[in-house]
Amino acid sequence: FENPTGEKYRPEYHFTPPTGWMNDPNGMFFLDGTYHLFYQHYPDSTVWGPMHWGHATSTDMLTWEHQPIAIYPDSLGYIFSGSAVLDIENSSELGTIENPPLVAIFTYHDPVGEKTTSTTFQTQGIAYSLDKGKSWEKYSGNPVLPNPGIRDFRDPKVAKIQNSDGMASWVMTLAVKDEIHFYSSPDLINWTLLSTFGKTLGAHGGVWECPDLLPFTAPDGQQKWVLLVSINPGGPQQGSATQYFIGNFENGVFTPDDEMIRWLDYGPDNYAGVTWSNIPDADGRTLFIGWMSNWLYSQVVPTESWRSAMTIPRDLSLFDVNGTLLLKSGPVKEMESLRIETFEIGKNSSLPGHAFEFSADIDSDNFAFKILNESGEEILFSKENGLITIDRRNAGPNDFHPDFAAAHAAPMSWKAEKVRLFVDAHSVELFINEGEIVMTSTVFPENPFTKIESTSGLNDEKIFKLKKVMN
Ligand code: FRU
Repeated sequence: FENPTGEKYRPEYHFTPPTGWMNDPNGMFFLDGTYHLFYQHYPDSTVWGPMHWGHATSTDMLTWEHQPIAIYPDSLGYIFSGSAVLDIENSSELGTIENPPLVAIFTYHDPVGEKTTSTTFQTQGIAYSLDKGKSWEKYSGNPVLPNPGIRDFRDPKVAKIQNSDGMASWVMTLAVKDEIHFYSSPDLINWTLLSTFGKTLGAHGGVWECPDLLPFTAPDGQQKWVLLVSINPGGPQQGSATQYFIGNFENGVFTPDDEMIRWLDYGPDNYAGVTWSNIPDADGRTLFIGWMSNWLYSQVVPTESWRSAMTIPRDLSLFDVNGTLLLKSGPVKEMESLRIETFEIGKNSSLPGHAFEFSADIDSDNFAFKILNESGEEILFSKENGLITIDRRNAGPNDFHPDFAAAHAAPMSWKAEKVRLFVDAHSVELFINEGEIVMTSTVFPENPFTKIESTSGLNDEKIFKLKKVMN
């Protein structure tokens, strides 16, 4: 089949690094009409190694332009995950009021300290940009937050948050072993511990990573806070996944509403996702992107010059199921701009190459359909007995890891009304009710899927051919 780049699994509308290794999305912010995406990157190999922050920019979160590597490792260590904010009041004094600095807050990971319990193992450092994110200078006083003697101490997500007295300060949400620590700072440089969360709540089958703390208005108008916490291993489908808590964040303390364990995405391949900062109030969206892989097998998947892609960007909001709040993560509306041709489909229909969206209304309690190719590979999607399932057991080569071939299920106790499925060269992302249930799964078929078959329980089925916006 046609593969202009010679790279069979290179997505057409998902972000991938030009070459080399990629994991978590980092430091995303929006400024002057441009979305910035940084990412954990090792340019010299297709497996994990000394981490840099790779960089890309976009005006729609879909068509990305690669930029030079933003932050390089140095004598304090590798540059692990973190976030970036616009310091509009120049609280850090790293810029000026006229030209406020962008400040990136990341974890320094000292690979030497790894062999010991040394307090230099993981610390937080900052870098700043005075040219709208093009180039980054490290702060001379790094680290800004030393390690208190706990090895896993990483992935700072920083936001400006108001206290009940109306005073705002910078709040850092940090993953510390399998808990969250909240810190505050007036200037992004001096940090004070506020509180800790999670010792007795949530899933603890692995280390906690890449948290995010987000305000939302619930459907009843109340303000709620959502705390995203990635965990590896210990996810519902083996390996890595993202859990979240819903509650209140007041005066530096997060108090969950209940003890329920909630998962952002029930597929195996959405990890370490966080949200964009500095989204204008007028937009009002909470925009998220995740790393579309799983630490179980990310380093052995069969791509050649690069490894890993990001998920499509998602718009987060709260919804209510019989009195229980849950987080919805729907495809961003920009996805619709990729539609270049529409096909109404029947029971057996051809697919237009490997970048398409399938959408349908669900008119029954259960549904089923599959996509398949001429090599006899197939992926099955269904709802039965209250479980949404994606079966990738026969979806192409999978002998690179013993746990890759699997059927994954998500419980859904309420009514499924609409399905949207986004397919690209090595992934499927299934959204039920625009993201009330989401499952993201990578697949490595020998050939693109050419047919959709055996649809039941669906009507108004459509295929949209999607525009190729990435190489
Ligand atoms: C999550 C993670 C982070 C860490 C980074 C290192 O996937 O393990 O906790 O900062 O990757 O690349």
